[in-house]
Amino acid sequence: MGKVKACLFDLDGVIVDTAKYHYIAWKELANEMGFDFTLEDNERLKGVSRMTSLDILLSIGQVEKSEEEKVALATKKNENYLTYILKMGPEEILPGTKEFLELLQKENIKIALGSASKNAMLILERLKLTSYFEAIIDGTSVAKAKPDPEVFIKGAEALGVQAEDCVVFEDAEAGVEAALAGGMKCVGIGKEDVLGKAHLVVDGLHKMSMQKLGLLND
Ligand code: BG6
Ligand code: MG
Repeated sequence: MGKVKACLFDLDGVIVDTAKYHYIAWKELANEMGFDFTLEDNERLKGVSRMTSLDILLSIGQVEKSEEEKVALATKKNENYLTYILKMGPEEILPGTKEFLELLQKENIKIALGSASKNAMLILERLKLTSYFEAIIDGTSVAKAKPDPEVFIKGAEALGVQAEDCVVFEDAEAGVEAALAGGMKCVGIGKEDVLGKAHLVVDGLHKMSMQKLGLLND
């Protein structure tokens, strides 16, 4: 491992809390199919791609659907989700995010996004954060979902930085696993019991500093 030269950020759960909107949209879909979907169930969808999320939802309701029906259901959920996303603004950026991004820029540390979401560009635009990211790798540009490291490897390549000099910020266990599988360092955003495999776990980006980032240098 080397000195930190780049930071790669997951979006949902790290920069913004979109999980609550995903939850409303999945719950409505479940209710329409005649079963319930709880907040606890929603935890299982964090970091998981849209189609895999739908498979988990259908397994909870013990419902079977054809591939064609699944595509229609995922589209319906996304259209509903987008009505919430389109109302979002910079006030929904999680605490400390902008300050930390600005600190990284000042220190000449490169910044990329590594998200499973196909709505990542739209969300960054709503939050007015797009210009902070030198590279944006999202659900539209990867074939393999986290815990596969593809999204972060592509991010590091786009920045021209070696994996060992990158730090990934992630709130999902699958995302932490993806970072480690890619040979990167990882800061978990959330709880130690879920994200314990990360090199460091903090409550949120408001808890980050150059000193803490420096702990990952060696
Ligand atoms: C991840 C979220 O970032 O993106 C998941 O944590 C979500 O909950 C996934 O399912 C895909 O998002 P989208 O916007 O492409 O449906
Ligand atoms: Mg996330």
